[in-house]
Amino acid sequence: MSAKKQVHLAAHFPGVNNTTVWGDPESGSQTDFSSFVHFAHTAERGLFDFLFLAEGLRLREHRGRIHDLDVVGRPDTFTVLNALAAVTTHLGLGGTINTTFNEPYEIATQFASLDHLSGGRAAWNLVTSSDAFTGENFRRGGFLKPEQRYDRAAEILEVAKKLWDSWSDDAVLADQRAGVFAADSSIGWVAHHGEQFDVRGRFGVPRSPQGYPVLLQSGDSDAGREFGAATADAIFSRHGTLESGQAFFKDLKGRMPRYGRHPDDLKILPAATFVLGDTASDAEERADHVRRQQVGGQTAIAFLEQVWGRDLSSYDPDGPLPDVDPDPEGVSITRGRVRHEKDTVALGKQWRELAESRNLSIRELIIETTARQSFIGTPSQVAQQIDDYVQADASDGFILVPHLTPGGLDDFVDKVIPELQNRGSYRTAYTGDTLRDNLLT
Ligand SMILES: Cc1cc2nc3c(=O)[nH]c(=O)nc-3n(C[C@H](O)[C@H](O)[C@H](O)COP(=O)(O)O)c2cc1C
Repeated sequence: MSAKKQVHLAAHFPGVNNTTVWGDPESGSQTDFSSFVHFAHTAERGLFDFLFLAEGLRLREHRGRIHDLDVVGRPDTFTVLNALAAVTTHLGLGGTINTTFNEPYEIATQFASLDHLSGGRAAWNLVTSSDAFTGENFRRGGFLKPEQRYDRAAEILEVAKKLWDSWSDDAVLADQRAGVFAADSSIGWVAHHGEQFDVRGRFGVPRSPQGYPVLLQSGDSDAGREFGAATADAIFSRHGTLESGQAFFKDLKGRMPRYGRHPDDLKILPAATFVLGDTASDAEERADHVRRQQVGGQTAIAFLEQVWGRDLSSYDPDGPLPDVDPDPEGVSITRGRVRHEKDTVALGKQWRELAESRNLSIRELIIETTARQSFIGTPSQVAQQIDDYVQADASDGFILVPHLTPGGLDDFVDKVIPELQNRGSYRTAYTGDTLRDNLLT
């Protein structure tokens, strides 16, 4: 038995973003079920841990218009994942579900149901992200300050766990037919009294194969990291370079002993992109082409406006940076983004220095700062890079975001996975019965 640390992979079905080149003739639909099926089947053929869906609860806007330039909108997470449960057998099914706007009973019901229907493959990415803009969709504009969101997230999880645990008698659960429980009045019974929720009642879903869904976290603030260290089975991070990955890995896992947890109880999976080629220079050329597809002129200006806080539509994307500086008072002109830059003046200065030192146009600068692929090379080189990162504790694996949907994982699975297997770093078959078994062993 090899003791080599194993690489874990998940597949991110792109939502709306500019990583995916929707305008490419090879790109399919973001709503047709056949797209999801193709993507899920490829991920399962590649023995991935799980398929992952992000979530946006309100269409983003930029200067009052819908922000996304190519495709807009996506179908409901649970509907997609439950449908995929029917056409897959081992692949985990992960959904991002917000803890600021939902109720614990409905979330607990939905995940327990997905876990049943999939035979133990459900995963919940708990996100707190919200702002007044998103809140308006829920008649809760301005609801909860950022620092209070993790209190609600922690309590939602606490209540959800009470609901799931209310059906905890495994012996009885061997037979969940009506009548068996008549003598046991505690089944499904929950009483919770807290700051955010008062719940008294009975939970309607028998205990599911995993008990709890696999818990994913992606918050990056101190409170977010602490919540992840205390509760998560895996973290979806954006620290994908070697140095930032190692720093994040050390920080996050270093917090776990405080909660009586072992560092191996949690996997760190940064988002990663890749471009493959027959030779190293072929891959570089393709990567360059993909970057230019990802950042068209309009996209470059929109990205720059997010930092500058100003209308820059009169500037030429292939020309130099504006001579004016970012407006620190400028109200955010992009609404509904997950992340907002905190110090736009400092970032603007950094970008200006970079552009001037390398003589970059606006578009070239945005390509440089937002569209660098994580792994570029031949299948063997990409496998080596991924393996090196994992062995160096920059991560436990990656959540791959291909630039084409739904076919963008095909080559990776056919060409990179065998290379990882040859290195002894990747499973050759699913060994666990549930997602948690596969992810944590
Ligand atoms: C890699 C990554 C992916 C995320 N994906 C989503 C998402 O799909 N939907 C969402 O509402 N928030 C998403 N978030 C937002 C976070 O989960 C979190 O709620 C937000 O960053 C606020 O928490 P923080 O201040 O602790 O970072 C993502 C964050 C990161 C780092």
